[in-house]
This record gives sequence, C-alpha cells and structure tokens, in this order.
Amino acid sequence: MTEIKLAGVVGAGTMGAGIAMCFANAGIAVRLTDNSAQVLERAGDLIAANYASLVERGKLSSSDAVDRVAAITRTVTFADLAPADVVVEAVFEDMSVKREVFERLGALCRGNTLLATNTSTLDVAAIARSAPYPERTIGMHFFSPAHVMKLLEVVRGEATASDTVAATVALGERLGKIPVVVGNCDGFVGNRMLLGYKREAEFAVLAGASPERVDAALERFGFAMGPFAVSDLAGIDVGWRVKMERIKRGAAPPFRVSELPDALVAAGRLGQKNGRGYYRYEPGDRKRHADSEVDALLARERARAGLASREMDDTEIVERCVYALVNEGARILAEGVAATAADIDTIWLNGYGFPKARGGPMQYAETVGLTAVLERIRNFEQTDPIFWKPAQRLVMAATSGRF
Ligand SMILES: NC(=O)c1ccc[n+]([C@@H]2O[C@H](COP(=O)([O-])OP(=O)(O)OC[C@H]3O[C@@H](n4cnc5c(N)ncnc54)[C@H](O)[C@@H]3O)[C@@H](O)[C@H]2O)c1
Repeated sequence: MTEIKLAGVVGAGTMGAGIAMCFANAGIAVRLTDNSAQVLERAGDLIAANYASLVERGKLSSSDAVDRVAAITRTVTFADLAPADVVVEAVFEDMSVKREVFERLGALCRGNTLLATNTSTLDVAAIARSAPYPERTIGMHFFSPAHVMKLLEVVRGEATASDTVAATVALGERLGKIPVVVGNCDGFVGNRMLLGYKREAEFAVLAGASPERVDAALERFGFAMGPFAVSDLAGIDVGWRVKMERIKRGAAPPFRVSELPDALVAAGRLGQKNGRGYYRYEPGDRKRHADSEVDALLARERARAGLASREMDDTEIVERCVYALVNEGARILAEGVAATAADIDTIWLNGYGFPKARGGPMQYAETVGLTAVLERIRNFEQTDPIFWKPAQRLVMAATSGRF
C-alpha cells in the first residue's frame, strides 16, 4: 500500500467538508470536489470559519490555521483527483449516484489508490463492485461533525483485501480517529443498534412518558444527550428518510416500529434546523423548551397506537432502551459483524455518547449480570415477542456471565 500523501474527497456537503478538515488536520494535502461550484464555495467558507473559531478560542495557532486552509484545494474538476492516494466519497446517500462515482474513480485513479465510501446505510460491497478493483474498496464511516467525532467504522466489504483494511485502520489512526473494523450489513454496528434503542424510546413516549421524561431518564443514566434531543440535533427527517428508503427496498425490520417521527415530519417539525422538533427552540439558542403543539400531536399518536397509557419509571425506560442495544449487540457478535464485545462498546462510547463510566452497553450488561438482563428481556418478550426475542448469543453467554 502506498504512503498517503494526497487525499481526495468527493462531495463537499456536511460530511465532505468535515472529512477534508480531518486530512488537513493530519498534515495530508486534500482535493475536495463537488459537482456544484456553489456548494464548494460554501464548504470553503465553512472550513475557514471553523478554523477561525479554533484560533479565536486559543485552540489553534493562526499559522497552523493558514496551513490547514491551504492544505485543502477545492475543485469542480473530477479529474483533479487522479493522483490521490486515497479518495473518500461523501455524495448523496443514493446507490446509483455512488456507483457512478466509483466507476469514474476506478477509471481515473491508480490501481493502488484506496477508495472509500462514507455511506451510512448502503451495501459497501455493491458500491465496491462498481470499481475495477473492489479489493481496494472499503467503507470509512465518519460521524457528524466529521472533524470532531473520534469514531470511524471501517467497513469491510466481501471483496475488501486484508491489507486494504490494515491501511485504512492505519490511516484512521493518523487522522486521530478511533477506527473499529466492522462487517458489511444494514447500519453496520452503531446505526443498526441505534434502531432498537430509538424504537424503545419512541414506545415509551407512546405508552405515556413525555420526550422530556425519556431524555431525562437516559441522561441521568449518563448519556450525553437523550434520544429525542439527539434526533432534534441531527434532524428528524434524516432518520425518517433512511426508514423510508429501507421500506422502499424491502428491508424494513421484522418488528413493529412507531410512527412518531413520521407524524413530526408531516407536521413540519424537523428539529433544531427549523426550531421545532420534539422540543421548541428559540432562534440562536439550543435550549429545549416543551411545546404544547407536541403534546397535542403525541395525544393523537397515542390514541392511534392504541397503547394503554401507564406509568413508566426511569428504571424501565433505561432497561428497555439499553437492553435493546445489548440484545442486538449479541446478534451482531454472533454474526461476526463486530469481532468482540469490546469493539461494540468502543463504538457506543465514541460515536453515540454512551456513558463512559458504564463501559459501553455490553460491559454494562455484564456488570448488571447477563442472567438478570436475559430474564428482563424474557419478561418484555411476553408482550412484544418479535422485537424482544432473546439473542441466542445472549442466552449462551448468560451461563458464563461473559460475552
Ligand atoms: N450527515 C450525517 O450525519 C452523515 C453521517 C455519516 C455518514 N453520512 C453519509 O455521508 C454522505 C454524505 O452525506 P451529507 O450529509 O454530507 O450529504 P450532503 O447532501 O450535505 O452532501 C452531499 C454532496 O454531494 C454532492 N454530490 C452529489 N452527487 C455528486 C457527484 N456525482 N459528484 C460530486 N459531488 C456530488 C452534492 O452536491 C452535495 O454537496 C451520505 O452517504 C451520508 O449517508 C452522513
């Protein structure tokens, strides 16, 4: 594998601009391209503003800021990526757009160039097949904001060669990230587990708890932010669009999911970006305020879901959300999508704000006792048998107490 001296990034949106900064921060020159000159200009302004803010806060010297801005060349000419040693693709989450980009990269770049996709949900192997050398193709799943978040899921496609995986891990470390190698499946490790966690948070709300209650319970447990505050920050429409895509391609999960996000999106409540999500926000302020419009919407959704309203204490809210993570984590281990329980914990600690003091979901379950966790899951299974079917790996691990 060649030494990485020049990087390319395709797509200069939210992720592409942040990824370009990661390379510049590591002293690697980078060419950032987009098919829209306007987007490229906006990315340049954003990058400059980010570095200026670091200088202002005393976190970066002005000469380093100048060097980093200079390390990022913006270009609308795709062919400028030809000499790159690595190219990270961060275009729209659309298989046909990504495949076209990989076909063009395959024809343009050297045979030993590392080609990475930043897809969050698409099949990395299918994207890789568009390039003439799929063994050099891999997923580099950065988290938003890419220049801040430490986690990097390194997604191994079926054809990805071992030295490509090793080179990507080394590159991730050079970028100051915490790379974790994962298998290729819908959502990889982090987002796949997130699905059940959010499902349970939404069902707690449909059962009568307010979003504030659920967020507070999980924040008291130690999460940096509760799930509804996170949805508001990320944009409720983002997760909703992923769900719609899943339904469209016939990959919806086998269990029932709530329609709460659909109702919020339909009501034009997209989160912090338009000041209205599960909470209301004042312009220029991220403080959450309760909103009577949400109360009315929730009352309608609760009636529609037909769930009997009942009290749910903090313990049950936390058990439902966290044990959903543990059960899916156990399946992920059994399938070999994650190599170890510690890898799953690393992902949840560094990408999803799981409380550091609790060591990650899998270690936390071992601390509680796997037999006790399994017993509680069996209890939930009685009223919700598909979602709460205990993972075979958890049943097996309960005997030894370790995953
Ligand atoms: N936003 C997130 O939180 C997040 C997190 C992890 C991964 N991702 C993934 O990263 C990718 C990019 O997401 P984003 O949020 O930055 O999207 P975005 O819409 O902000 O940016 C995508 C950019 O790609 C450009 N583009 C589209 N087709 C192109 C082409 N053929 N050639 C060059 N440029 C092209 C668009 O002009 C746009 O600027 C997606 O695959 C997404 O799933 C997003």
